[in-house]
Parts: sequence; structure tokens; C-alpha cells
Amino acid sequence: MEKVAVVGSGTMGSGVGYVTALAGFETRLYDVSPEALVKAEDYHRGLIAKSLAKERITAEEADAFWGRMSYLDELGRALDGADIVIEAIPEDIELKKDFFRQAEGLVSQDTILGSNTSSLPITQIASAVESRGRVIGIHFFNPAPLMKLVEIIVGMETEPDMVDRVIDFVRRLGKEEVVVNDFPGFVTTRVGIMLVSEAIFALQEGVAEKEALDKAIKLGYNHPMGPLALADLIGLDIVHHILEVLHDSYKDPRYRSPILLKKMVEAGRLGRKTGRGFYEYE
Ligand SMILES: NC(=O)c1ccc[n+]([C@@H]2O[C@H](COP(=O)([O-])OP(=O)(O)OC[C@H]3O[C@@H](n4cnc5c(N)ncnc54)[C@H](O)[C@@H]3O)[C@@H](O)[C@H]2O)c1
Repeated sequence: MEKVAVVGSGTMGSGVGYVTALAGFETRLYDVSPEALVKAEDYHRGLIAKSLAKERITAEEADAFWGRMSYLDELGRALDGADIVIEAIPEDIELKKDFFRQAEGLVSQDTILGSNTSSLPITQIASAVESRGRVIGIHFFNPAPLMKLVEIIVGMETEPDMVDRVIDFVRRLGKEEVVVNDFPGFVTTRVGIMLVSEAIFALQEGVAEKEALDKAIKLGYNHPMGPLALADLIGLDIVHHILEVLHDSYKDPRYRSPILLKKMVEAGRLGRKTGRGFYEYE
């Protein structure tokens, strides 16, 4: 496996593309938006410059990175000859199904079709294509260059051989994998979001002030940040959306979204990206 196509060059795709090119894979980054491609390239320039300055890579390695990396606005060229496709387009089931339907006709027989979805069912995404055995979840975390974990999600029809190939790929990236089954939210999103949601309920009920709540979990459990600060980092609209997806899927009230969260989303207090969430940002 040598050629990687990363589809969608936003937050996740740009990070994943950086990781794959740095690890030695020929990487094509594709996006429908030319601005997103320019932004990804700028982001890569910044990362490479920083790595050079800190002597984490040599000038030859930086040159090799640029030799392996390309930014394309034509899907056919991006997917041509790819051994693995990693889709990182917005979290919308119809958008993803459309993409995979289209991609299937542009790749070779044994190309792995991976999705970076953080909550949508892999089995449902796979239903859009004929050869469902090669669709698999390859869930990177933000920021991809720093985060060690990749959660591999095995859909109902995913072939065992695909799982082995993706494990091998993930290890070649210098990352660590966990292999999980295709249940809504997998492990990381399902379990992680509950901590965030419970903290918002506790805040809503007046159990503690937000700073106290975050400090309790941060220091009490040795987490790098508190759950409310984490919600601001993820984006409150995303947290709300994930809870809605889990609630719809499991029909279990424990996944309901707190009223406080809904109100904050309606007010446009989405966290770091809008400068205001549970906390205020410059
Ligand atoms: N942001 C996170 O923290 C995070 C973490 C893990 C997984 N994810 C998942 O990764 C995926 C991408 O999330 P993101 O935060 O990078 O989104 P983003 O909005 O930053 O980037 C999505 C990109 O996809 C492009 N795009 C839209 N439709 C396209 C299409 N049909 N073909 C090609 N490009 C298209 C957009 O122009 C945009 O640049 C989602 O499924 C999300 O759930 C996100």
C-alpha cells in the first residue's frame, strides 16, 4: 500500500494528509473547495516549517514530503491508482453515501474505502456501494498529527482482510489502533460524549460553577482539560449533533441533549470557533 487519497481537506483531512505524506505515502488531498485546499497547503507549510525549526525533520525529509504531497480539485485524478481512500467530508450521511457511490466507479477493485466519520454507521455508508466488504471506519482524532489513536470501525459487511490491511496502514503511520464494532458512536464518541453531556447537565442543575466542574474532572481524573472546555474545543453545535445522532439511534434518554446546550447553540455560542461558549476566547 503506497498511495493514499484523502477526500475533504478541512480540519481532519488536512491533518490526516499531513500524517500520511510524512509517513512516506504518496498523498493526494482533494476538496470541492479550492480555498480549503489552499488553506490545507498553508497549514502544511506551517507544520513543516515548525518541524524543521525544532529539528524534528531534516531538509531532505521536508523535500520528500513536498514530493509526495499533492492538492487536487479533480476527484478522478485524486482517486486514480489509490490503494486507500480516506473520506473526511462533513458529517452528513447523504453526502457521504453520494461520495462513496461516486468513488466506487473511480477506484480499482481492491482499493480500501475508509471513512473518518465520528458518529455515522459504517454499515449504512457501505450500503451506498456494490462492494461493501471494503468499506471501513478509519477514525482519526483532532489534531491528527498529534493524536496517537486511530479507531478502526468494522461494519457488518467489512471483510477481515480489510481490517488487517488498515491495522498495518495505521501502524505504518506511527499511530495506535483500536478495532471496534459498528455501533452508533463506536467507543470513543459514545463514551467520551457522555462525560461532556453529564458535565453540562450538572452545570444546568447548579451542582457547581463551570470552573469548579472542569477543575474537578481535570485534576480528579488527570484529564488534560475539563469537559466544558473540551465541549468548547469540539464545538457546541457538534456536541449537540452527536447527541442527537446517538439519541435517534439508540432511542435511549441518556443521550438526550441538555436544554442548556440547545440554547447555547441557538444563541450562536458555539465555543472556540465563535469566540464564546462556556468560556470566552480572544
Ligand atoms: N473536527 C473534528 O474534531 C473531527 C474529529 C474526528 C472526526 N471528524 C469527522 O471528520 C469528518 C470531517 O470533519 P472536519 O471537521 O474535517 O470537517 P470540515 O468542515 O473542517 O472539512 C470538510 C471539508 O470537506 C469538503 N467537502 C464537502 N463536500 C465535499 C465533497 N463532496 N467532496 C470533497 N470535499 C468535500 C469541504 O469543502 C471541507 O473543506 C466528519 O465526518 C467529522 O465527523 C471530525
